[in-house]
Amino acid sequence: MKIRKKARYVDPGLCNACEECAKVCPVVKPDEFQMGLSSRKAIYIPFPQAVPCSYILNMDDCLGNNPIACGKCADVCEKKAIDYDDQDEIIEREVGAIIVAIGMDVYDPTEMDEYGYTRFENVITSMEFERLICAGGPTAGHFVRPSDHERPKRIGFIQCVGSRNPKIGRPYCSNICCMNTVKDTLLLADHYPDTDNYVFYQDIRAFGKSFEDMFQRSKEAGTKFIRGLPGDIEEDPETRKLTITVENTTSGRLERHELDMVVLSVGVVPPKDRDKVSGLLTLSKTSDGFFMESHPKLKPVDAPTRGVFFAGFCEAPKDIKDSVCQAGATASRAGALLNAGEISVEAITSRIDEEACTQCGLCAAVCPYGAIIWRKGEPAVVVEAACAGCGACGATCQFGAITMRHFTDEQLIAQVRAVLAENPQDKVFVFACNWCSYAGGDMAGISRMQYPTTNRVIRTMCSARVSEEMVLEAFRCGAPAVLVSGCHYADCHYINANRQTVKRMQRLWNKLDKAGVRPERLQLEWISAAEGQKFAKVMRQMEEIRETVTMEEIEHTKQALKPKPKKKAPKSKEAAAAAS
Ligand code: FES
Repeated sequence: MKIRKKARYVDPGLCNACEECAKVCPVVKPDEFQMGLSSRKAIYIPFPQAVPCSYILNMDDCLGNNPIACGKCADVCEKKAIDYDDQDEIIEREVGAIIVAIGMDVYDPTEMDEYGYTRFENVITSMEFERLICAGGPTAGHFVRPSDHERPKRIGFIQCVGSRNPKIGRPYCSNICCMNTVKDTLLLADHYPDTDNYVFYQDIRAFGKSFEDMFQRSKEAGTKFIRGLPGDIEEDPETRKLTITVENTTSGRLERHELDMVVLSVGVVPPKDRDKVSGLLTLSKTSDGFFMESHPKLKPVDAPTRGVFFAGFCEAPKDIKDSVCQAGATASRAGALLNAGEISVEAITSRIDEEACTQCGLCAAVCPYGAIIWRKGEPAVVVEAACAGCGACGATCQFGAITMRHFTDEQLIAQVRAVLAENPQDKVFVFACNWCSYAGGDMAGISRMQYPTTNRVIRTMCSARVSEEMVLEAFRCGAPAVLVSGCHYADCHYINANRQTVKRMQRLWNKLDKAGVRPERLQLEWISAAEGQKFAKVMRQMEEIRETVTMEEIEHTKQALKPKPKKKAPKSKEAAAAAS
């Protein structure tokens, strides 16, 4: 693993944080830590609790780098701690486990123009509120309006800004905003008992330990909770007062509230670096954009990639207590892995025959775990500890160089032939993935659902294991209709291996079409383990397709799909010369 340690341009071993450098620095920039509510210099301590407590120089802001046009900070630094030539350092480490804890970002309410975040100075976000009320904040904890630095007397909080709103593509609950607002109202009631606080909400989710108690305390302290989200906010340009129009859904009345200040309780969004990290570690995401765990109940802190674990918000929105619990669980999981001394690998893994490998690299490209190492001019190699056994590589290799233990090509083709050995015209042939579709079939069975008895199901670990050859063999054996089924598209148990299924099916439909075989005789369906009903319905649909297929069509298909001579691995020039 390579780690980039960014240059600080100030030696923390020499710097004694005397502040002389910041005093003479002529650059003034908005302070990110204070949410832009105060300023910092180009040389600064990022936040009061920073460790080490020494200055850093932001080279993007500094005037004195190349050529040295300023250099004032270096001139006044008695310790000679400033080094303009400092460089980023690349550190290499061998690691056995990686914990991903890259946190979250906060929703930017600019796009919700109805709340006027960019138009009205006294509309702030809940993060800005935190800085304004904090003793270490830009106003030393004195809560004032940004427009005139007067203390606001009537404050409104608007909930679910950027959460539970499918219109802006954020349908999920951010989990922390309700209780954060309740906490803020208690703080205000404590510091400024004469303020009137209003909370506009759609639901208050006070589900954690003591949360309901806090909510009741806030109400007792005088906070008015109004069920309904405001349509818009208007500002009186003279007085800078804000007027909120809202439908109170409890009373059914339209209300207008005049306020001094509005706090938008903004939701959380996945961290902006998540795509970079997911690319590096082959992680997958949920539809909300947070990282997906290996199993929501049984492996809640494990990533699908082995040896990688999650902690905190990057996996899903959660409060401090849940984050701490998850961090503890993650540390134990990683510790258990590192202390095990040995690790057990899957019994179902791929094996590569070096002789047969043509070094094309296609297997490495389709492996969702990055478990196949391929270098130009060398046979591919499987890292067995990383292989999860989906079989996508085995189905992709055209040269028979990959053997999938326990689900070999020979075993699966033999099953196809055995199933269709007698009266194939009366059967619907089904390939079902182990985790979802096959379990969906079980669910249909144990729920006593009725569906035609003509289907014959064989199991593969993932739908991505079903090769073109297996499907064609089923047709050659006389199957009137073939179904390939797997987990829902984003739910494949092998990260996103079933993307390969879709690509392969597309090629198969084209092939069938060219051969004069009706493509609809081959179907692809996503059926989850809980969808017994869907399984039964799909079986009925497949039976309807089967009934339309005539014996002539079956005979024509057998002829049209006759196997071509097997592809031979192209030999290298040297090997061909040696053979001759
Ligand atoms: Fe079901 Fe991949 S595991 S489709």
